[in-house]
Amino acid sequence: MDSIKAEAKEFALFKNNSISLAPMAGTSSVVFRSICHRYGADFSTTELVSARGIAYKHSLEPSFRYLELDPVHGGPCSIQLFGYEPEDFSRAVPMILEDPRLSSAMAIDINMGCPVPKVVKTGAGSALMKNWLLASQIIEATVRACEPYHKPVTVKFRKGWDELQSDTVGFAKMCIDSGAKGLTLHARTRDQMYRGRADWNCIAEVKSATAHTGIPLIGNGDVNDGTSAKAMMKLTGVDGVAVGRAAQGNPYIFSQIRAFIDGRDSALYVPTPEERVSVMLEHLAGLISHIGEAQACKEMRSQIAYYFKGQRFASEYKAAAMSADSFDEVRLIAEQWLERVQGDGV
Ligand SMILES: Cc1cc2nc3c(=O)[nH]c(=O)nc-3n(C[C@H](O)[C@H](O)[C@H](O)COP(=O)(O)O)c2cc1C
Repeated sequence: MDSIKAEAKEFALFKNNSISLAPMAGTSSVVFRSICHRYGADFSTTELVSARGIAYKHSLEPSFRYLELDPVHGGPCSIQLFGYEPEDFSRAVPMILEDPRLSSAMAIDINMGCPVPKVVKTGAGSALMKNWLLASQIIEATVRACEPYHKPVTVKFRKGWDELQSDTVGFAKMCIDSGAKGLTLHARTRDQMYRGRADWNCIAEVKSATAHTGIPLIGNGDVNDGTSAKAMMKLTGVDGVAVGRAAQGNPYIFSQIRAFIDGRDSALYVPTPEERVSVMLEHLAGLISHIGEAQACKEMRSQIAYYFKGQRFASEYKAAAMSADSFDEVRLIAEQWLERVQGDGV
């Protein structure tokens, strides 16, 4: 407990009532993580990266763009690994933490929740919730590998594999006994994928069963605004909440949630259309500087759809911006949308 308290000063993970960006493949780039941090996300996690990919290629470079950190603008960030072989974690972790570009990582997070068949059929991701022995060996190997670098290991997992195979409290305790210093619980089963309601009661059960350990629990699933964030915290007693899909194209959600939790919801922050466009273009420009214009425009398509989601007159402009293949084209279309919105007096 004492060492946990000592670490508490150093790691944003231990902050009370934290609001973080959940890891999302295809969304959680270093560019988007930095934008979210500016709007108030206390910390973030990279998207999942294969431990085996790093260990076998003896190189970080093929995965580097997903691992990349921005210690100046990005805020604290954990690096998430997935895999099914403890040895892969033992080999990948020193490669990551010895690289000066990545040594500021807040923690190494192990993915035990990914439901995607390609990952699960190897025994990784949420399949580990059916193989506690292997899950425990992976955590222990990662903890040993992180020790020389004084980095904590955290685990992100789900409620269970399905309703029948779901001992969430037991799994959380196993993670802690194996050396995890932080947990994030996505309160859906693997069977649910991303559908249906997240079961916040199971988050409350895990929190009450593990509170005595001092290990922080981050609740995840269906936090969509300030009201739901506050409700999850109240119902479950979690140390923080992680926001997934509701942050896509909507990084302002972090200031909105913070205002709500701090009781400043009367001054709820609502971005103007100009700000939406400016953030979307900042996001695209940032991606271009990392991966080049053609690839960035391609990868930005789904994000553009999120930025336009729910906006007035958006559909035709959104479709056009999603098929654009240069920054200037996207900017022109976004400016035309702004003119339309402004012309309407909104
Ligand atoms: C497109 C997408 C990609 C995701 N990628 C990851 C990932 O790389 N690692 C991970 O642990 N979870 C991943 N998740 C799960 C989210 O982190 C989160 O647990 C899930 O979306 C539930 O939270 P929400 O209801 O706030 O969206 C992903 C989810 C989505 C929708």
